[in-house]
Amino acid sequence: MSLANEINQLLENAFADCGLPTALARATRAGRPEWGELQCNGALSLAKSLGRQPRDLAMAVARKLRQGAAFDAVDVAGPGFINLKLSARLLARHALDQLADPACGIVQQSSQSVIIDYGGPNVAKPLHVGHLRSLVIGESLRRILHAQGHRTISDVHLGDWGLQMGMLIGQIGRDYPTLSCFADDPEVAAAELSESTLGFGMLDLQRLYPQAAAACRENPARMAEARELTAALQAGHPGCLALWRAIRAISLAVQQQDFAALNVHFDLLLGESDVQPLISTMLADLRERGIAVESEGALIVEVAEDDDAHPMPPLLLTKSDGAALYATTDLATILARTRINRPARIIYVVDQRQALHFEQVFRAARRAGYASEVELIHAGFGTVNGPDGKPYKTREGGVALLADLLAGAVGKARERLDAMAQNEHGDFATPQNVSTQAETEQLASLVGIGAIKFADLSSYRLSGYNFDPERMVSFEGKTGPYVQYACVRVTSILSRAAAQGLAPAPIRVEAAAERALAFECARFPDVVASAAANLAPNEIADYVFNLAQTFSRFYLDCPVLAAEDKATQGSRLSLCALTRNVLGKGMELLGIVVPEKM
Ligand code: ARG
Repeated sequence: MSLANEINQLLENAFADCGLPTALARATRAGRPEWGELQCNGALSLAKSLGRQPRDLAMAVARKLRQGAAFDAVDVAGPGFINLKLSARLLARHALDQLADPACGIVQQSSQSVIIDYGGPNVAKPLHVGHLRSLVIGESLRRILHAQGHRTISDVHLGDWGLQMGMLIGQIGRDYPTLSCFADDPEVAAAELSESTLGFGMLDLQRLYPQAAAACRENPARMAEARELTAALQAGHPGCLALWRAIRAISLAVQQQDFAALNVHFDLLLGESDVQPLISTMLADLRERGIAVESEGALIVEVAEDDDAHPMPPLLLTKSDGAALYATTDLATILARTRINRPARIIYVVDQRQALHFEQVFRAARRAGYASEVELIHAGFGTVNGPDGKPYKTREGGVALLADLLAGAVGKARERLDAMAQNEHGDFATPQNVSTQAETEQLASLVGIGAIKFADLSSYRLSGYNFDPERMVSFEGKTGPYVQYACVRVTSILSRAAAQGLAPAPIRVEAAAERALAFECARFPDVVASAAANLAPNEIADYVFNLAQTFSRFYLDCPVLAAEDKATQGSRLSLCALTRNVLGKGMELLGIVVPEKM
């Protein structure tokens, strides 16, 4: 049981023993460390509803609490706050248990199957700044839920089946008319294509796609052609399929390099196209049951509800050409996922600007009875912004490619590390310990990418944040490199101790800084539980930053290697080991790699 749960249990017992309802018997963090670690304000709110004196209630509860061994002090303050100073033995016991637990105390939940849908790049387009948050937040949520014991399935859900495919095929038909896929003979058209037979790769696609989009925007005939080609592709035209397959493979290979650079892992690399076989039966089923209806040549599902505060347009399943739309594939994907994986939840980590789309799809799925056993959740996020507070653009005003953003941050990290190597500081591992060119490059990459990920994850999911690589790679303040550096520092203390033959010993919590460190570590399981419940990795980012700071104060106040006696030294080494484990686990849940040395 986590420390907080154990204390809440004691509070509940004490409230019940005083004949009080237990709903408000909850501890929160104390406002100031000198008051103890925790406080309970339950007596105050309760007194009002019971018409009694809050201080009397608090005194009665405090008397009960003092009878146990969990607290070194229980004080009633002000009008009826109960301040709780945890007993040193309780803190030491929790610290030792947590040190022995590979999960660092994370409480296992009854295991659910959870699908997490994130990334979602479109075929033929390189990843750009708009994909960063989805990838980074989605990956962290996968790790957090997995650590709680859930069976997580991550799925990239490629955008590979919509109108953009028809646009692109039309453009390629103009620029490369002699490709086998455009042959009249279906057998020739179906021949497999690759980057070498096509004679172009991702860089060309990056050029062809915007060309195609612009042409379709300006010229209705081109748009009509793109619609026809999309419908042909979806109907299984051999040439369109052969070309589509090749394009999809080329772009996925490049996108996977970005996934790897970001340390993002997908269990499934499925896309919109994978549900094509389900679509016609799904549409027939929805029509038959009167859920989907014809409206001006289109097929729609009404999803408005009586108590809607805002207008809720119907979900559009097909236009007159019959081609599947974004919503059609999303609805069919719910059907596929519930059949194949039977998830308890599907979490979509997608830009908050798509909130309406998901609300429509979820409502349609519920109306159709496709979601009776699954909870559908849109975990939206705000935009990555430039200095002007508007969605981030390159200096030229274009869309910033993800690979360029990462390379930029790695470059900044390299500068920082070089500057630190020039100007040695502290007695810890310094960049000078990192010797070869390859090691320096590797380190710059871990620091630069860790910096970007931490900055993203530490912002509250639903608000946007400013993309400022200079600040992100700083070793001071609430940054990834600061926390990475703290991890490396603790590890370096532990390895120096090991080299001197010093062994960790049972934990004793005496000095204030030891108490603060043990308490901060003990909060970890509750932070993970809360981050999971709120789908909020920023709670873990805040936590690892606080823990790194708490450790700094401990290291300043409490000599470890130079401790006054063996028992104290051993205990502090154990506290260092605990801190390393918890910081390391926290960073792992964020998906941020910690270098071995810095
Ligand atoms: N491809 C979509 C886009 O670029 C994102 C996909 C998100 N996932 C989903 N199931 N709709 O906007």
